[in-house]
Formats: sequence, C-alpha cells, structure tokens
Amino acid sequence: MSEQYPCMFKPLDLGFTRLQNRVIMGSMHTGLEDSHDGFRKLSRFYQERARGGVGLIVTGGVSPDFSGQLVPFSSQLSFRWQVLKHKRLTTAVHEAGSKICLQLLHAGRYAMHPFAVAPSALKSPISPFRPREMSLRKVRRTIDAYVNAAVLARKAGYDGVEIMGSEGYLINQFICAHTNKREDEWGGAFENRIRFAVEIVDRTRRAVGDDWIVIYRLSMLDLLPDGLEDVTCYPAITAAVVFSTPSQWVGAITAMALFAIGVFAFIWSFWNAVQRSRDEQIAVTQVYLLLGSPTPPRVRRIMLSMLIGAVR
Ligand SMILES: Cc1cc2nc3c(=O)[nH]c(=O)nc-3n(C[C@H](O)[C@H](O)[C@H](O)COP(=O)(O)O)c2cc1C
Repeated sequence: MSEQYPCMFKPLDLGFTRLQNRVIMGSMHTGLEDSHDGFRKLSRFYQERARGGVGLIVTGGVSPDFSGQLVPFSSQLSFRWQVLKHKRLTTAVHEAGSKICLQLLHAGRYAMHPFAVAPSALKSPISPFRPREMSLRKVRRTIDAYVNAAVLARKAGYDGVEIMGSEGYLINQFICAHTNKREDEWGGAFENRIRFAVEIVDRTRRAVGDDWIVIYRLSMLDLLPDGLEDVTCYPAITAAVVFSTPSQWVGAITAMALFAIGVFAFIWSFWNAVQRSRDEQIAVTQVYLLLGSPTPPRVRRIMLSMLIGAVR
C-alpha cells in the first residue's frame, strides 16, 4: 500500500493544523448520535478509531436546524447548550492524536417528519411527507443556520466541518434541476441552483476564519433525470489542491490552468501559496472555489486526474 501511495501515511501539514496521515474516516451515522447516552459511547467508538491511527474522522451528519433533522429528535447543532456533548467527542479524538470534523447535513425532502422543507414542494419517493417549499426568508435563515452550526462546532473543539452537498440531501436538491423547480434567484440556471451551496461555503469560511478545515462533499453522479452525470459538470467546483513538493506544485498549477478559471484566480492562488509557504515554511493546502465556464470533458478529466495526482 505505502509503495503504491507513498504519501498516504505521511503527515499532511495544512498550515494551521497537521494531520498525522492522509487517511480519512468518511461520514457514517452509527445510530448512537440519537440514542440515550449515545455521545459517551460514540466518544469511545471514535477514540478507538483514532487510536487505530486514522488521520481525520468525519462524524455522521448533524442537522444545522430543526427542519433539517433526518428523523424526529435526531442530531442537530444550533444552540450553545448543545456544544458540551460534542466536546466529549473532540476531546476523546484529540487525546488519541487524531483530528475530527463535524458533518453538517440538512435532510431537505428526505426528512421523515412533517416539518420537511425543500427548494420545491416535491415529495421524495423515500419519505411519506411532502416538503414545504422554502420561502426566500427560509432559504436565508437556513444558510444562517449552517454558519451558526459551524461556529458552534468550532467552539466544541472540532477541527473543521464537512458540508454535505451530495447524495440527494438539501444542498443537492437545490443543485439538481429534477428537484429544484424554483423560478427565483435560487432556481433555473445552473448558476442560480448552485448559489445555495456557494453561499453556505463562502459564509461559513468567512465566519470561521482561514485557520479551520472546511470540506465540501460533492455529488459525482445524481442518478436522476436532469441530474449531474459527473463532477466535471460543475463549472463551480470546490477542489482541494495540495502543494507539498515542488513537483506537485507544477502538477497543481498546471491543473489550475487547465481548469480555465481565469487569470485572476490563478495569479491569486499562486501568489497566496508562495507567500504562505515562504512565510511559514510549510506545505500549503488551500480550498479553492472555482467559478468559470464549463471546460470540455476531456480537459476536465485530465485536470481531475492531475488534481488527484497532486493530492496523492
Ligand atoms: C451506516 C451508514 C451511515 C452513513 N451515514 C452517512 C452520513 O451521515 N453522511 C454521509 O455523508 N454519508 C454517510 N454514509 C455514506 C458513507 O460515507 C459512504 O459514502 C458510503 O458508505 C459508500 O462508501 P463505501 O463505498 O466505501 O462503502 C453512511 C453509510 C453507511 C453505511
């Protein structure tokens, strides 16, 4: 394994924090999140994984507000008094030398309760409840709720958040034309449908600062009529670019150029990377929100494989 992926077990310096390796435990609900005494058991569960040596753990999805709960009374992070129990998880994982991010997941029309909301009032085949169409005010308040939850997660000692943008949940419901029939600024053209995701990522980053991890989980394949067919369909994409050795710099920079994101983003990111690595003598990881026109599929594929190469 380490021969095929020589960087896998090497530490990853993000500038403001350091992962002991590049192994990430993906988000998985265990059921403990919502059960009596669940957080005590969950902290032991995560601590064992941390002792096993995983670099970063992502928790199961936690809703940023009441309407986003998957089932009634499932996990939510919206209030200060909820911070304490999360501290239990973060302390347990940190004691074992690992890092942990909180996943923020709003169920949207997948919610199994009558307070479900969605971009459009379209019932999902997997829930008996028809969601209420979100008003403009509700859209704004939901974005606020994501930002608030991220700020609370930071208070609870998490190393970052993962914003769940895939697998048919609320953010994905905005992006996918099949589930978004809105005619206002949150629906219609792709630039409008992606606005909800972009605002959440952007405002979260501004609220938590630069020295905290923000991951965006994106959909590769919607498997729905009018759905995205692969990640390269995104003219706006969040890409994690890792600069760790000079040769990888070349790969990443070429990838950025191939992305055709425009001269400004290219110069800005290059300059920023140079500054940070020179000032802090570190490898730099940055998350770019790339906005530009769609690039031809072949170019995008080459770019993606180069990005993966750069990360490896
Ligand atoms: C029991 C279980 C719970 C899961 N909970 C979440 C979740 O809360 N959030 C999420 O983004 N993905 C969740 N997933 C999806 C996993 O992160 C992962 O994408 C999925 O298991 C496919 O990965 P694999 O092919 O390695 O199994 C869950 C998967 C399982 C099996």
